[in-house]
Amino acid sequence: MREVLVMALSALLVLACWRRWHFRSFWYVVAYPLMAISVLASWRKIALGCGLTKKRQRFWFTTVPGLVESTGVVRVKRKFQRVSVDTRPWMWLPMPTRYGWRVTLRTLEGQIPGDYADAAERLAHSWGVHAVRVSSHKPGRVRLAVTVRDPLVKVDHLPPSTDLLKVTVGRLETGQPWEIDFKTVPHWMNAGATQSGKSNLANALIVGLAPQPVALVGFDLKGGVEFTPYKPRLSALATTRAECTLLLDDLQTLMAERMGICRMAGARNIWQLPPGIRPVPIVVLVDELAELYLMADKSEKDEVARASTGLLRVAQLGRAFGIYLFCCGQRIGSDLGPGVTALRAQCSGRICHRVNDPETANMTLGDLDPAALDAARAIAPATPGVAIVAGSDGQWYRARSYYVSEQTAEQAATTHADNTPDWAELLAAQPREIPA
Ligand SMILES: Nc1ncnc2c1ncn2[C@@H]1O[C@H](COP(=O)(O)OP(=O)(O)OP(=O)(O)O)[C@@H](O)[C@H]1O
Ligand SMILES: [Mg+2]
Repeated sequence: MREVLVMALSALLVLACWRRWHFRSFWYVVAYPLMAISVLASWRKIALGCGLTKKRQRFWFTTVPGLVESTGVVRVKRKFQRVSVDTRPWMWLPMPTRYGWRVTLRTLEGQIPGDYADAAERLAHSWGVHAVRVSSHKPGRVRLAVTVRDPLVKVDHLPPSTDLLKVTVGRLETGQPWEIDFKTVPHWMNAGATQSGKSNLANALIVGLAPQPVALVGFDLKGGVEFTPYKPRLSALATTRAECTLLLDDLQTLMAERMGICRMAGARNIWQLPPGIRPVPIVVLVDELAELYLMADKSEKDEVARASTGLLRVAQLGRAFGIYLFCCGQRIGSDLGPGVTALRAQCSGRICHRVNDPETANMTLGDLDPAALDAARAIAPATPGVAIVAGSDGQWYRARSYYVSEQTAEQAATTHADNTPDWAELLAAQPREIPA
């Protein structure tokens, strides 16, 4: 008896050390098979508890003993009976993932993926896991992606992307890299309350874009305190609304020039031009977007209108001519004027950090799944950098940026200062002759 106890304790100790030493192999070899068995075994009870089962009428023929006739023959009677049974959605074998597991279910008649999304929190509590995300890749099927523990508590760096205009800024909760790719999604809206991690994300972009052959332009409406240290790598920096309007005029001039080049070459956008004459792409980083639209009195009206129209024009036409926007703001509400709503419509990239007002979350993520709004409101202040991100696949994800200190971004800006295209030279560049 004593030996058995000692052996059991030693086995437990070995398992605990293994789990601590290499969680991934422990998960695949020990924890996942046990989990899969327990999930399949308990599915009936859990589906019932979470309201995902349906009552069905089943018909049975039951045999009841009949009478013993005088001949000695027992006559058996068959009775037609109606019974009500609970049917659960059919569950395939759960498959292990990096941070948990995923499983596909066949929905019951009349069920939609929304029914499973409504039950997601109940499922997570029943299974004792961090979160359950619901998606549907095929009619009649739903996929539950289960994360056993929050993968965004600590985010380690992934290798940087080598593609032009693509930056790996953090990790998605699925474990995949969180990439901002301006060529796929040209304009971004990055919202969040103070200290939620907006500038950290802008720092990550600066670090990622600094070594690339792109021009960076800063609109820092916090009076320049955020972007001034990165000046060596910025081709232009505006720190007041008046400077922003001038810089927006420059961007529109550049856009008109690039339109001319594309028209002459018969190209629809700069990426169809031969590499020799392709103008350098420009990424415009805007911090404190709301400051562009706020006015204390009527005297500021014209300046606000000019800034708002300029930014909207850049957003509308910039994509084809290699001008991309990344707009950060604490509060992005329709009360700032129609210019903001129109700009939002042009920004297909959406990032919503922790927000204080539901209006900002609504404005940023409103046209996504309502569950994305709930997830944005649930971001804790203790986890700066966590955000809800609209992916290019139309799905939304929880994600967290890497921590990038101001010093790291400043160092990257200084190291790659030689890559900075000169703004005056960019503006002076005349359409060059198109090779035949
Ligand atoms: N991804 C992250 N991981 C860890 N810490 C982070 C992360 N992002 C931000 N932080 C921490 O949160 C602090 C606030 O971040 P940041 O300055 O980016 O907020 P912000 O949204 O720009 O705030 P404000 O609106 O006041 O400028 C940072 O100093 C940093 O310590
Ligand atoms: Mg900031």
